[in-house]
Amino acid sequence: MTKVNDNYLKLPGSYLFSTIAKKVAAYGEANPDKKDNIIRLGIGDVTRPLTPTIITAMHKAVDEMADEATFRGYAPDLGYEFLRKAIADNDYKKRGCDIEADEIFVSDGAKCDSGNIQEIFARDNKIAVCDPVYPVYVDTNVMAGRTGTYDPDKETWSDVIYMPCTSENGFAPEIPSGEVPDLIYLCFPNNPTGATITKDALQKWVDYANEHKSVIIYDAAYEAYISEDNVPHTIYECAGARTCAIELRSFSKNAGFTGVRLGFTVIPKDLEVEGTKLHSLWARRHGTKYNGAPYIIQRAGEAVYSAAGQEEIRGLVGYYMKNAAYILNGLKDAGFEVSGGVNAPYIWLKAPNNMSSWEFFDYLLSEVQIVGTPGSGFGPSGETYFRLTAFGSYENTVKAVDRMKQL
Ligand SMILES: Cc1ncc(COP(=O)(O)O)c(C=O)c1O
Repeated sequence: MTKVNDNYLKLPGSYLFSTIAKKVAAYGEANPDKKDNIIRLGIGDVTRPLTPTIITAMHKAVDEMADEATFRGYAPDLGYEFLRKAIADNDYKKRGCDIEADEIFVSDGAKCDSGNIQEIFARDNKIAVCDPVYPVYVDTNVMAGRTGTYDPDKETWSDVIYMPCTSENGFAPEIPSGEVPDLIYLCFPNNPTGATITKDALQKWVDYANEHKSVIIYDAAYEAYISEDNVPHTIYECAGARTCAIELRSFSKNAGFTGVRLGFTVIPKDLEVEGTKLHSLWARRHGTKYNGAPYIIQRAGEAVYSAAGQEEIRGLVGYYMKNAAYILNGLKDAGFEVSGGVNAPYIWLKAPNNMSSWEFFDYLLSEVQIVGTPGSGFGPSGETYFRLTAFGSYENTVKAVDRMKQL
């Protein structure tokens, strides 16, 4: 008799964003006069189009596919050399980090990579995650049967080490003082809090991981949004990271590739667990389960690193960060407790008057027709917080903040 993977049955509730979508749809149906007034600053999807240099590179690659002489079939499963080299040179060597092209695994995005990477680790590894957290890290470990039992009251798993990120610690996780985690998920700049980490603080994590033979899975999907000095753009800026850290990157948020799909994972060849190179395991996994990101898209990724591409994506990031500044400053002036928004496109807002995250969600939707994301959806320490994103249009962002000022 067939059996399902019953780890999937342990996953609680429905996905955060589908709950939000249902609530917004129900509100729209009940209030048809206000439906068109709704401004969505909830989901972390970009809204600006791809830039001209990227579009030109894609068009050129499409034409190559139409010609027998330049047509390409399956891409190399670890990525085309032209893109891996562009990544190694621009994202790492230019920053003085010792990462080679053959340590880069091109993929169709950081969501898949952050979900799949756990497969190369034993089931009895203990994971540590920030709380609140990007839900993919936890849910994919649940699916793998690594998280124990779920406590619906506390909204936590018995075999997960939670590292609370609260206003008391500046939304930065503290190094666990008790049980040592085997796999440590860190994401900076952070989704959902918009907080980040200094290079000195990240160095402490790297030292801890090396000392305890833990592996850090470092999600740097929002690296392009860093505006302050002494914030590391990659974990490989820290000494010793080559022996303890895997880094995940995405073209979604810097270059607007959310619908195009491109990302990569870095696994240094020095990173060994019990004498096995994780690089070899991930290469084996990628080679078996993945047939490569499309040629057209990898050419688009290469164009991101051209001088014109870099200039254009600076413009994209600047557009969203202007929104972030408007939200951050506007809400601060209005008396809200807000953080983030300086090195990340997310603003983390404390719900006023002791409201819960979902109460504030309903309040904002009904009073001023603004949709954000309840912080409790990212973990128990997110309760009473709320996430707004800077990915809307400038006009809508201004409208939304001005409405919130009237509350
Ligand atoms: C922290 C983090 N990692 C990864 C992703 C997914 O990136 P991608 O579009 O490359 O799959 C997101 C998307 O919101 C994210 O917030």
